[in-house]
Amino acid sequence: MSKNLKRILTGIQSTGTPHLGNILGAIIPAINFSKQNNIETFLFIADFHSLTQIKDAHIMKENTLHTAAAWLAFGLNPEKTIFYRQSDVPQVTELAWYLSCFYPFSRLSLAHSFKDKKDRLDDINSGLFNYPILMAADILLYDAEIIPVGKDQLQHIEITRNIANRFHTLFGKTFIIPKDYLTENTKLITGTDGKKMSKSKNNIINVFADEKILKKQINSITTSSNKIEEPKDWKNCNLFNIYKHIASENDSKKMKQLYEKGGVGFGNIKKELIGLILEKFSDERKQFNYYVSNIAEVEKILSKGSLKAQTTANKVLGRVRKKLGY
Ligand code: ADP
Ligand code: TRP
Repeated sequence: MSKNLKRILTGIQSTGTPHLGNILGAIIPAINFSKQNNIETFLFIADFHSLTQIKDAHIMKENTLHTAAAWLAFGLNPEKTIFYRQSDVPQVTELAWYLSCFYPFSRLSLAHSFKDKKDRLDDINSGLFNYPILMAADILLYDAEIIPVGKDQLQHIEITRNIANRFHTLFGKTFIIPKDYLTENTKLITGTDGKKMSKSKNNIINVFADEKILKKQINSITTSSNKIEEPKDWKNCNLFNIYKHIASENDSKKMKQLYEKGGVGFGNIKKELIGLILEKFSDERKQFNYYVSNIAEVEKILSKGSLKAQTTANKVLGRVRKKLGY
């Protein structure tokens, strides 16, 4: 890699269609980043990670297509970005095995994401437990320096740095130590229930969905029981929290005043929000549908990307194998 090129990398699991949280927290920041000068971008669909939750080949394929279509709809440029499917570069699983031998079991047991999923999911498999190691391999395999993510992923990046440093203590410098990149105001988008929006929580807003489904999702956003005429607290209102990410600054300011004054009902705010989403993401919705119905085009883009990704992966893996004596 040339000295003044910075490499960024991020992935999204194919556990469903990317939602508003994924889009604002990961997709848009990564795409904006990729447009800067001297940046080389690796973006991928983490379909090996999805296997921790999805055990149906048809759903896996559909989710992968939807995830790819979402990235492309939001302006990912496949000519400038190395865009690939994780499973098309299986070298990552080899590196994950090596890394797992450098990270203590006791520390992995402390990962927040595992603790959280263990309490919510029925299928608590060891892939879920090893999830952060595979993620560390995703990052270290490509010498990535900057990792744009939402807040929930910070600990995984900390684990990645820790594993790389442990390896370095024994074998000398081998990996690039990555840094996270958080966009302050979009690092945690709340779902319809006020908790972190997540594909596995049934609280998502899918901006690509049919209008009817979108309406249902927006109408399910929880609010306080204040009456229309009563003043309302925008600071603690989940509906406002979501609204402010979609509306213009000026409209958000006006909405705050309406909350404080009273006279506006949550039902009306929800109606306005639906209209704003349909308008703001109108092009992206069309593009998404285009890619979903042009599978061959998406496949071509992904397979081109995986060839480029393989070149870097083989180089880094060669370096690691040599150090380990293989
Ligand atoms: P999910 O939790 O819905 O399964 P992923 O784990 O696939 O989503 O997350 C993909 C990317 O989107 C990660 O960078 C993650 O930090 C970001 N992300 C996920 N949910 C949110 C959210 N609610 N707010 C901001 N960013 C998010
Ligand atoms: N674990 C990430 C998530 O759930 C997805 C992911 C997998 C990822 N590998 C990655 C993100 C590498 C950044 C870098 O959101």
